[in-house]
Amino acid sequence: MNYLVIVLRLVHILAGAFWVGSSIFLFFFVRPTLAATADAGQKFMAHLVTKANITTRITIAAFLTVLAGGWLYWIDSAGLTSAWRNSGPGIGFGVGSLFALVGLVFGSMVGVNTAKLGTLASQIQGKPSPEQMGQIQAAQKQLAYASPISTIALILALASMATARYWLF
Ligand code: HEM
Repeated sequence: MNYLVIVLRLVHILAGAFWVGSSIFLFFFVRPTLAATADAGQKFMAHLVTKANITTRITIAAFLTVLAGGWLYWIDSAGLTSAWRNSGPGIGFGVGSLFALVGLVFGSMVGVNTAKLGTLASQIQGKPSPEQMGQIQAAQKQLAYASPISTIALILALASMATARYWLF
């Protein structure tokens, strides 16, 4: 039995499921709910970021996924030397990795701005000051494009990873 590959696959797929699942849940459910619930949403957001540490946990899952995935790719390609890289599955896992890296870059923007919004929400008493309002708008502006790009890239990464083994051409 190849224990290393079993452990790497478990870490890779479990952390990946947590990362992609969280991204989908936040984008499709939490964001519209926050927009619709004003003050209650602000309290929920403050708790999610400052007490539940959501951004740190998703960041850890993302890095575990990428590290274990990179290690698996290294093993499968015999240290980037074998013909596997140019086979259908090798290309499939490579394409999936590129999507995952796009998800990681834009996801880190989502994490930074979500953390900013959560911290601001925990500091604001009553109405936000003009300065706080400016910071909220700047963070929301970045989230408006980074969040869909990262979620779509991660869905495409998962779709490529899940089917790569059968890319036979
Ligand atoms: C840079 C990021 C990533 C790299 C380098 C990478 C690389 C790999 C590699 C090389 C494999 C084949 C493992 C084996 O030999 O059995 C694999 C499998 C897999 N990966 Fe990734 N991956 C990445 C991101 C992701 C993400 C974000 C997900 C989402 C959940 C994911 C889900 C999966 C799944 C489900 C499999 C199993 C596919 C199968 O057994 O046919 N990967 N990945």
